[in-house]
Amino acid sequence: MERKWWKEGCVYQIYPRSFYDFNGDGIGDLKGITQKLEYVKELGASIIWLNPCYKSPNDDNGYDISNYREIMDDFGTMEDFDELLNKAHSLGLKVIMDLVVNHTSDEHEWFIKSSSSKDNDKSDWYIWRDKKNNWGACFGGSAWEYCEKRDQYYLHSFSKKQPDLNWENPEVREAVYSLMNFWGDKGIDGFRMDVITMISKDQNFPDGVINGEYGDASPFTNNGPRIHEFLKEMNQKSISHYDWLTVGEGAGARVEDTLSYTAPENNELNMIFSFEHMNYAKPQCENNWKEEKFALPGYKKIYKKWQEGLDQKGWNTLYLENHDQVRSVSRYGNTSNEYMWKKSAKALAVMYYLMQGTPYIYMGQELGCTNTNFNSIEEFRDIAAKNDYAVMLSRGFSKEDALRLLNLTSRDNSRTPFAWNKDGGFTTSTPWIRYNQDIKEINVEREKKDPDSILNFYKKLISLRRSSDTLIYGSFKLLEEDDEDLFIYERTLDNEKYTIIVNMSDNTRCYPVKGQVVLSNYDDSKDEIRSWEAKVIKED
Ligand code: NOJ
Repeated sequence: MERKWWKEGCVYQIYPRSFYDFNGDGIGDLKGITQKLEYVKELGASIIWLNPCYKSPNDDNGYDISNYREIMDDFGTMEDFDELLNKAHSLGLKVIMDLVVNHTSDEHEWFIKSSSSKDNDKSDWYIWRDKKNNWGACFGGSAWEYCEKRDQYYLHSFSKKQPDLNWENPEVREAVYSLMNFWGDKGIDGFRMDVITMISKDQNFPDGVINGEYGDASPFTNNGPRIHEFLKEMNQKSISHYDWLTVGEGAGARVEDTLSYTAPENNELNMIFSFEHMNYAKPQCENNWKEEKFALPGYKKIYKKWQEGLDQKGWNTLYLENHDQVRSVSRYGNTSNEYMWKKSAKALAVMYYLMQGTPYIYMGQELGCTNTNFNSIEEFRDIAAKNDYAVMLSRGFSKEDALRLLNLTSRDNSRTPFAWNKDGGFTTSTPWIRYNQDIKEINVEREKKDPDSILNFYKKLISLRRSSDTLIYGSFKLLEEDDEDLFIYERTLDNEKYTIIVNMSDNTRCYPVKGQVVLSNYDDSKDEIRSWEAKVIKED
């Protein structure tokens, strides 16, 4: 068991645009975050992950960067960033940034130059081809865009304002390591790496299997031929210079890929955000509307595979939400009334948080935030939501159906302003995106006062994990694999054992265990496991 701060800590993810608006323009900013750092500290988190705050025209809310060494105008200045970092450090909080280097903005000076002619010192910094293949972009349409000045196409895996960098070019790689070191020298504590497993493309650019109108690029872009070589080089030229947390977004990463990415002897990354548990029975509106039934045994098997697969050899991330996902209590829990909402949000927290891996909490998750009822397409802000809506209409969905389905899937569900009090309290003006309809009931002020709130439960849960090596480093064993209601697992280290029992259903079940209940979302402890009951038991 190798002790590491990034294994022991709890990461709190902040979407800067929606956390707290200091200057009253309706958009969250860095000064706003600085002002609210005590909140994160009180929660018990020890690491903050900031979604991108670099200069950006905001086609994809900062995931389209036009200058990696400057701060986005909406968010403030470099002085504001330095102040945030200093204050965080003085409170004992670490700060990790988002590294977005699969692509830049088309407004980055590298791309402006590269696209100006076939013959300039950046001409080979992006992926240019005379002919396009059939690949589709993740945000819809073709992954290739024509550029008149070059009479060529450039690849964009996401929007056409997000051209993919050409990682085959060593100058591009050096430029990336240099910007990473720029932030490292400022004193940040690591990076979350956006779609990092997509940076090495199959250089034959073969057509993909047609899925709807376009070919599926993922077999040729995810976990590509030179990915491990690039990450090892990145580690040598940047990561290894610092005591960092590095977490890669692992589009398409399987357990075996993740072992290669995270095994310490490979000198690549600390951990990967895998998607298998998030994609399980996920409603999708890609080509045709798809909704599979959620069945607990199938869901548990995924965790078992990842927990056992990485034990002692790599390291897991634990998460249920982020800025690309809907709210977990709406997706998996029971929001039919306040009582069940509270129980199920707490049960979900216990379920995922006490496995082996570094836990992540997305802002608002600790309050039990729910999905938002968007009333019309005009209320959405996300480029992906707008594209999905257009695709659904073009496939014959009615406007009402398209809206209903978007409400179930849209990333905007988690991007609504953070509610500090019953009136929102995020901004003094009109927020850039509407508030959730539940802010009167789900807000910081109210939950702070209520000893039984989800917020106060999260505090206990975070402190429980922090206090126990077994809950951090212990091995994981899934019990009752085929049970359709109960998610039960053990964590063991040396002679100490915890059993985590979570009822992920409305049914009342029975599961007697001996030991001391160290955390529960019901007051009295019985052998019965009631609807959405969660208990953590330490064996005597
Ligand atoms: C993954 C990010 O999490 C998402 O928000 C973004 O749109 C894409 N990568 C493209 O950068």
